[in-house]
Amino acid sequence: MSTSNWSKSSWKAFPAMQQPDWPDLELYKGTLNEIESLPPLVFAGEIRSLRQQLAAAAQGKAFLLQGGDCAEEFNQCTAPTIRETLKVILQMAVVMTYGGERPVVKVGRIAGQYAKPRSKPTEMVNGQELPSFRGDLINSAEPTLAGRTPDVKKLLSGYFYSASTLNLLRAFTRGGYASLEEVHSWNKEFVKNSKAGKSYEKMATDIEKALKFMNVIGLNLDSNPQLKEVDFYTSHEALLLGYEEALTRQDTLTNKWYDCSAHMLWIGDRTRQLDGAHIEFFRGINNPIGVKIGPNHSMDEVKKMLSILNPNNEWGRITLITRFGKDQIQDYLPGLVRGVEEEGQRVLWSCDPMHGNTYVSGSKYKTRKVEDILSEIRSFFAIHKAEGTVAGGVHFELTGKDVTECVGGAQQISDGQLEENYATSCDPRLNAQQSLELAFLIAEILKG
Ligand code: PEP
Ligand code: CO
Repeated sequence: MSTSNWSKSSWKAFPAMQQPDWPDLELYKGTLNEIESLPPLVFAGEIRSLRQQLAAAAQGKAFLLQGGDCAEEFNQCTAPTIRETLKVILQMAVVMTYGGERPVVKVGRIAGQYAKPRSKPTEMVNGQELPSFRGDLINSAEPTLAGRTPDVKKLLSGYFYSASTLNLLRAFTRGGYASLEEVHSWNKEFVKNSKAGKSYEKMATDIEKALKFMNVIGLNLDSNPQLKEVDFYTSHEALLLGYEEALTRQDTLTNKWYDCSAHMLWIGDRTRQLDGAHIEFFRGINNPIGVKIGPNHSMDEVKKMLSILNPNNEWGRITLITRFGKDQIQDYLPGLVRGVEEEGQRVLWSCDPMHGNTYVSGSKYKTRKVEDILSEIRSFFAIHKAEGTVAGGVHFELTGKDVTECVGGAQQISDGQLEENYATSCDPRLNAQQSLELAFLIAEILKG
């Protein structure tokens, strides 16, 4: 990869969007120095494995499932919350693996998804203009001037909350909690006990048969301890470049630079300016990179961006995460796919069916309809099929909890029910049942 004139701080010479105004710059620099001296959160070898798996997904030999909170919260860094998120992603993955007959690459929006881009720097709360909440890495959601003032201590806390989350994820995914049989037994419960699950009895029974067959031929936990383990990767939007720089390290095995705050990082739809600091930072790190693409893009800009970020045109380097909305995907995705194909640029196509389908219900709750989310997913698969390209992944905002933030689905959550358990600090998430329901539907689409 050409990284001429790049260093982990070269982004500073470019305009950086969405960065907070830290009140005390000396304190800010001191805190970043402290983070720089702390151990990396992930290891470069793991990042390389993920890149290989994403390369397979881009070529139709695997499928990417990426999901988690819109914004993680420090006070939700608890064992039950982490366990429930991991659990629902693993459940979805088993169903989709079976349906798609290919491995599912599991990537959480977790262990560092603490910084949020905002459409406006300030907002009016009870007649007072306050800085917007930018995520727990920066300020507090509490609507007071003190709460909303950026606080550098939160950068350091964010590092430790990420480490603590990652530690439990590693324990769960290596220690037997996530064994295939265990995950399947959770799915059986979902099929048996939920309205949403009822339609999927047949697929659950088929999976059960496959597992029994494996057992009979001696492929079980005793003979193959690796069935107790799963690969689970972390990701977040790399928004705060100072923080990301502090965790960017040179790998001693390959001498390459990796942002070791997570395995995969993505660039948001609001920060992918060609001459901006985010693109400059990302071009030099060797992690797999996601780029969000919404309706507001030009083909020319996307082509240039891909040649900057992936000059050697390597599989697995870039995941384009499209988020057009169910009504706009047909207008934008075919053109985007053709433009990228024309250049022969190698990307993994993933669908974020969340961010283009948000609306405000009753002037109070931001929400999304499960039906709209499914509609965008169906169009995504249909368009890639028509274009002869690979629909290689999906990207969800979800939680393992029983929240009421998105409407519809088999549970038929209504707009009036949103207030019952609306817990997100940012965008509305699918709850566990809605997530599983979508996983079964995607499995059916993958099956053809
Ligand atoms: C997000 O993924 O939470 C987000 C802000 O997305 P986008 O950049 O696509 O708007
Ligand atoms: Co969001």
